[in-house]
Amino acid sequence: MVDHLLGIQGLSKSDLYRYLDTAHSFVEVSERDIKKVPTLRGKTIVNVFFEPSTRTLSSFDIAGKRLSADTINVSIGASSVKKGETLIDTVRTLESMNPDVIVMRHSESGAPHFAAKHLARTSVVNAGDGAHEHPTQALLDLLTLKQYFATKKRGIEGLKIGFVGDVRHSRVARSSVWAHLTLGNEVRLIGPKTLVPEDFARGAFGTDTIKVYSDLAEGLKDLDVVVSLRMQLERQEEHFVPNLDEYSKEYCISERILARQAPGCVVLHPGPMNRGTEISGEVADGPRSLIRNQVTNGVAVRMAVLYLLARTVGAPEEVSHG
Ligand code: NCD
Repeated sequence: MVDHLLGIQGLSKSDLYRYLDTAHSFVEVSERDIKKVPTLRGKTIVNVFFEPSTRTLSSFDIAGKRLSADTINVSIGASSVKKGETLIDTVRTLESMNPDVIVMRHSESGAPHFAAKHLARTSVVNAGDGAHEHPTQALLDLLTLKQYFATKKRGIEGLKIGFVGDVRHSRVARSSVWAHLTLGNEVRLIGPKTLVPEDFARGAFGTDTIKVYSDLAEGLKDLDVVVSLRMQLERQEEHFVPNLDEYSKEYCISERILARQAPGCVVLHPGPMNRGTEISGEVADGPRSLIRNQVTNGVAVRMAVLYLLARTVGAPEEVSHG
């Protein structure tokens, strides 16, 4: 059976910890002078991106290379590809070259699932599909929180976490919310009613336990973790906010509001950031920001995901990554 990582929805708590514990063991590889282990030597990873990406594509590429896999990156203009036959043709063509893993980003929700269904021998990793899921981002956020809270002698369960901004169009928020629900954390969604509708949580996650706030100060109260989200203008088919200036007056996360409402909180942002729109430069560069750690951890998490999938494909023997 070929394994895939298509989403966080449906993963158990022990699945989450398996990815995190494996990632933890890879953090150290990137801190070495020689940042390479032979773990996936002889394996081939194809990163096929139908949407633009900076950090996700480069960190998958670096992750594969640090594991000694052969990696190739295929960037395909979203407009030239339509879901259906063309996507099937593309993935089957790629599979004919016998890669072990295809990492896929696509503007259509469900595209990687569709690919996984039609591939017999290749693992598929979802690197972001439409507004649906972005599982490796959720895992790297969890790893970042796990490292931070370990310094406070705490784990990542029993936290209060709030997602601020364009939750409706955010695959990062969707994947992370699934993870935090699985961990039993208190989840809040904060933003204008157009971007975080009252019934959104029940519709998207099938639960009444998620609290929705349109008032930023109220939503932030006593949070341990604040996740700032970019306004996903490319995914908005209509205007959800009057303009970005109006939006930022009410929802930009400033040090002033955090110091008052959630003085102990840390802040995450998946990037790319719009400073002054959803987050102030002071917060982004300040002591509560874990944003740089997120980027660093992206490599370790993607190494873990590639390792856990590719070591089981094709070759029965296990290769130690120690
Ligand atoms: C996110 C994405 O593409 O979904 N970025 C990322 O992968 N780091 C978030 C975003 O684009 O705002």
